[in-house]
Amino acid sequence: MTASGTSGHSNEEIEKLQKSPEILSALGAFVTKGVTLKYKKGNPQPRIVEIRSASGIINSIGLQNNGVKSFVTNELPLLFKFKDPKPVIVNISADTVQEFGEVASFLNNCALSEIVSGLEINVSCPNIKAGGVAFGTEPKYVERIVETVKKSIDDRIVVITKLTPNVTDITVPARAAISGGTDALSMINTLRGMAIDIYTGRPFLGNKTGGLSGPAIKPVGVFMVYECFKKISQCKKGKIPIIGIGGISTWQDAMEYIMAGATAVGIGTAWFIYPEVFKEVYEGMKNFVEKQNKKIADFIGKAHA
Ligand SMILES: Cc1cc2nc3c(=O)[nH]c(=O)nc-3n(C[C@H](O)[C@H](O)[C@H](O)COP(=O)(O)O)c2cc1C
Repeated sequence: MTASGTSGHSNEEIEKLQKSPEILSALGAFVTKGVTLKYKKGNPQPRIVEIRSASGIINSIGLQNNGVKSFVTNELPLLFKFKDPKPVIVNISADTVQEFGEVASFLNNCALSEIVSGLEINVSCPNIKAGGVAFGTEPKYVERIVETVKKSIDDRIVVITKLTPNVTDITVPARAAISGGTDALSMINTLRGMAIDIYTGRPFLGNKTGGLSGPAIKPVGVFMVYECFKKISQCKKGKIPIIGIGGISTWQDAMEYIMAGATAVGIGTAWFIYPEVFKEVYEGMKNFVEKQNKKIADFIGKAHA
């Protein structure tokens, strides 16, 4: 799957996918950039800084988007035009619990709602009512957001809760999302980070801090998937599947996530550098399992045996 925020909604990234049937056919689902209730201007520039040895980037986009109404009118129809249609998962963000429900309900009731297969709730965004603390670090909010979103949509739309790694124990928000009724978990979002320009002596990003993604965060993501699979029985039994995200740039990285307990994987930063990544990851995984006369399912959680 595409990781949210790294392939836009329907812009040039999607055109790139359209032009390459091989890359498109390697994708299991398309996850959009985060959509909010109202237009968001985003954070001041610069918004992205590369970190040493190409091990990752720190971004602070600030959820720039035109709001859910514009998304439904101008972006969603274009996602329908894929020659090889993919399930579309809309990533949603909000400043309050109620707003999460409003975005979800708008998507559920819009004219093209049949295009929406799932909603991915981004709980990493700041809760303005609680002084800007990320929702995802407060289990009670995670539970309430998931409950509210579930109540606002039809059962046919799958709900995925995207967890933030900026917590001490990832199983706490994971369990809260499950109590709220999530159908699946995705992890991880970016880790909080910062880069300082030593020649100006100032933080590099316009927003000062941002979120670290790319190869540097893969061991954190693999560990968090491993923890949830190990400690949460619904994950282990496959009732609540985990989508492994964070630093995947090769098929071997993806297999690590599968062996930790993921059922699917998402790729973000690597796609900025290397558009063929989806195809290579898909083919590499396929060869790896087929050479052993096995299916991918045989490897889910293998590291726990
Ligand atoms: C530029 C950029 C924008 C992002 N925007 C979103 C977003 O809107 N919603 C979200 O849930 N995650 C967002 N993410 C997080 C990614 O979906 C992903 O969880 C993270 O980057 C780790 O995966 P990666 O190392 O493969 O990039 C964004 C990441 C990047 C780099």
